[in-house]
Parts: sequence; C-alpha cells; structure tokens
Amino acid sequence: MDSETVNIALLGLGTVGGGTLQILQRHADAIERRTGRRVKVRRALVRDPSKPRPPEAADIAVTTDINEILDDPSISIVAELVGGCDPTRDWIMRAITSGKHVITANKALIAQHGNELFAAADKHGVIVAFEAAVGGGIPIIKTIREALAGNDIQSVAGIVNGTTNYILTQMRDCGLDFSEALAQAQELGYAEADPTFDIGGIDAAHKLTILAAIAFGTPLNFANVAIEGIDTISAEDIDYAETLGYSIKHLAIARRDAEAVELRVHPTLIPQRHLLARVDGVMNAVLIEGDAVGETLFYGAGAGALPTASAVVADLVDILRLLSAEPDHRVPYLGVRPGAIADLPLRPLASIHSAYYLRLAVEDHPGVVADITRILADHAISIEAMLQRPDPAHLDTMPIILLTHRVWEHAMDQALEAISRLSSVRGAITRIRVQTDAA
Ligand code: NAP
Ligand code: HSE
Repeated sequence: MDSETVNIALLGLGTVGGGTLQILQRHADAIERRTGRRVKVRRALVRDPSKPRPPEAADIAVTTDINEILDDPSISIVAELVGGCDPTRDWIMRAITSGKHVITANKALIAQHGNELFAAADKHGVIVAFEAAVGGGIPIIKTIREALAGNDIQSVAGIVNGTTNYILTQMRDCGLDFSEALAQAQELGYAEADPTFDIGGIDAAHKLTILAAIAFGTPLNFANVAIEGIDTISAEDIDYAETLGYSIKHLAIARRDAEAVELRVHPTLIPQRHLLARVDGVMNAVLIEGDAVGETLFYGAGAGALPTASAVVADLVDILRLLSAEPDHRVPYLGVRPGAIADLPLRPLASIHSAYYLRLAVEDHPGVVADITRILADHAISIEAMLQRPDPAHLDTMPIILLTHRVWEHAMDQALEAISRLSSVRGAITRIRVQTDAA
C-alpha cells in the first residue's frame, strides 16, 4: 500500500535546519516505516537566498517569503528553526490559526510566549512540539512529561547550555582565553545568533523556564528565573576551584518544597566527584529528583546540527503518528491538563541556603584577614577552607580565596557589603555559589 505523503516546510536552513534536512533524507524510509507516512520538504525559508546550501537542499524550493509557506494549504507541518521571538511569534501564530502543526527548537519563544501559543494550538486543534528547545539531543521534555509521570518531581538541575560548558571546559583543559573559546563554539554552530544569550545565562534561563513548568505543572514564567552568566568567571577562579577539588559549571536549578519554588541559573562550584562535574565540552546533563524514582541523570550533546535535529525529527515522527488521533489523546504541553496548571510562590534568591566561594584582592598587611573573618563571623558565616597565594601579576595585593559553609544568601549579601567597605579590600569581590552534598 502507498503511504500518504505529508508536506512540511522548514523555516531556516542554518545549523539546525541543515541537520534536520540531512536526517530527513538519511532516514526517509525509516520514518515511513515508523509512521506510515512519507515526508516531503516542500519549501524552506531563508534570509539570504544567495548563500550556498547543503546538497540535501538541491530539490527544495527555497524562498524568502514566509507567505509562500503559510498560505500554502498543502503544507501541514512547519518546523521553525530560525530563532528569536520576532517575527517568529507571529509566523507561528499564523501557522497555528491556519491549522498547521508546528515544531520549534526556539526556547526563547516557548519560554516567553509558550502560554499563548499552547492556548492557540489547543483552540485550533494543532500541535506545537518543542523537544529540541532544551538539552539538544537529550529527550528531556518527553522524559519529564511522560516517562516520569509517576513522580512528584522535587528538583531539576543541570548543565543546559552547550556553549558555556564548552567555553569553561576549553579554558580549563586547553588554557584558551574566554574569547578564543567562544569563537570556537560559534564556529562549531553551538552559540546563539547573539552569543550574549549563552554567556549571560539567558538561554539557560529560557530552558529552565520550560523544564520547571513541565516538572511542576506551573505556567511558563521566564521573569521568575534569577540569572547570572559566566562572564564574571576568570581563568584564575577555574584554577583555584580545581585546587580546592571543585569544577566550575554553569548550572540551571529548579527546586520545589512545600512552600515555594526556586529558579536560578548561575556558575557553581561542584565537587569533582559529582556526576555533573564530569560533563564537559558541548555535553549537557539534567539531574531529576522524583519522589518515586529518586535521582535520574540524562546526558547527551546539548547543541550542534545533528543532535538538535535528532530531537526535531523525533517531534515530527510524534506529530505524524498523531495526525489521525483525537486531540484529546495528546500529551498536554506542560505535563498537566491546561485547567490544572497552577502557579507556586517564588522563593527569592536572598532566601536560598548555599555555600560560597569568595575571591578578594587585599592589601598584604597584618590584620586584614582578621577583619574579614570577623565580619563573616558577625554574620554567622563559618569558613570551610582558605587559600592565600601571591599573584606575580599583582604584587601590591594578595588574593584570598575562601570557601564557606552553607548560609542564607541575605546574610552573605550583608557580609560582602561590609567587607567591600574595608579600606584594605581592593576591587570587586567574586562570589560563586558552591554545590555541596547537602544541596
Ligand atoms: P542559524 O544557523 O543562524 O540558522 C538560522 C536560519 O534562519 C538561517 O537559515 C537563516 O537564513 C534563517 N533566518 C534567520 N532570520 C531569518 C528571517 N528574518 N527570515 C528568514 N529566514 C531567516 O541558527 P541555528 O543555530 O540553526 O538555530 C536555529 C534555532 O534553533 C534557534 O532558535 C536556536 O536557539 C535553536 N537551537 C539551536 C541549536 C544549535 O546547536 N545551533 C540547538 C538547539 C536549539 P540564512 O541561512 O539565509 O542566513
Ligand atoms: N546556544 C545553545 C547552547 C544551543 O549552546 O546550548 C542549544 O540550545
């Protein structure tokens, strides 16, 4: 029996669009065996038609006019692989209202506009699939939404940005400076069009917004995430952390207890024995704690053409399988049925309990360390380890590195404010949260 042909369009033929095309051609027969449908890429949208395209694009009508896709009734699925919210939000809304299913790898769009897009999709009976938006090739959305549905999830924590993990790894292992490592990540197709989204933690925050909503059945709320990037991390912090038995990783953390939820993205010192400390390069890993399953860890390439396209094509296969199913049989976007989505109170960053790494430059004279430790003691902050090592590049000051025990963040804020007022302390104090076994 001949399989039905389903026409799709790719919006974007860059890193992810090119990878998607490659997989669709390589696995055309396998996709047909899995779904009973043959996929034809009817059109692809690009910005610059003069750019060379991969050989797989030779038979595809390439256009710069989105209307040629959105107004084509023969196209039933569009994969948005462009990025950003403008004009993609409007394109996707138009696709939905004209009855087309949508696949997107765009975490910024889902984190910021997912609530309205999902509502519109429900109204028009179409699917918005977004597995590629988080974790690159790791099927983390399907896992939380479906495979862990027997759990009350307490926390989701992990490395969810490939670019920053690649940069930190290259700085540590190859001695590259920050900008060299970033240039490599861009060359490899890992970074966002605007790499400050990666470096500044915004991309990781978009992904955490999505993970937390699915894990906890809450609405998507990007504004709730406290965000710090890796731009304040220096090669010396990486070295000092290693000396103290830690790696610095950029972590995204969503945690819930009976009272509140905390959502934060920031560099973190992790003990070298911890599983997440061994996740290097472009790899991502997400650690989930459920009441029934305990801890589970999901690991894989977090960015790049084929790993991301693997998730895009998995979404396509899901949609093809669901084409003839009743909308009611679909898995809800955020894991719970729309009417059951419920917000939780947000715990502010000042109220978290964490250990800290501190690096200060001080004038090297008697009593300086005593002044600092006295202020810490006044705020009930106890020191776990201290390093004092002359820096040949700055002989007028002495770097002091402190590891503290766990303390409320507001106490640390107040202590640092007082320490920074000491006349012997020079420049800004570096403060990085430390993941201990207790948290
Ligand atoms: P990319 O390589 O820069 O490709 C973007 C594509 O979109 C290009 O083909 C570009 O056309 C096209 N495009 C951009 N603006 C357009 C416009 N105004 N009109 C028409 N076409 C336009 O980006 P990417 O890395 O593939 O990322 C695409 C999406 O996937 C983003 O949302 C990103 O966050 C997400 N994502 C990326 C990765 C990754 O590893 N790269 C992983 C997961 C998710 P031209 O080719 O003519 O310039
Ligand atoms: N820029 C993103 C990253 C792409 O580096 O993780 C994958 O979402």
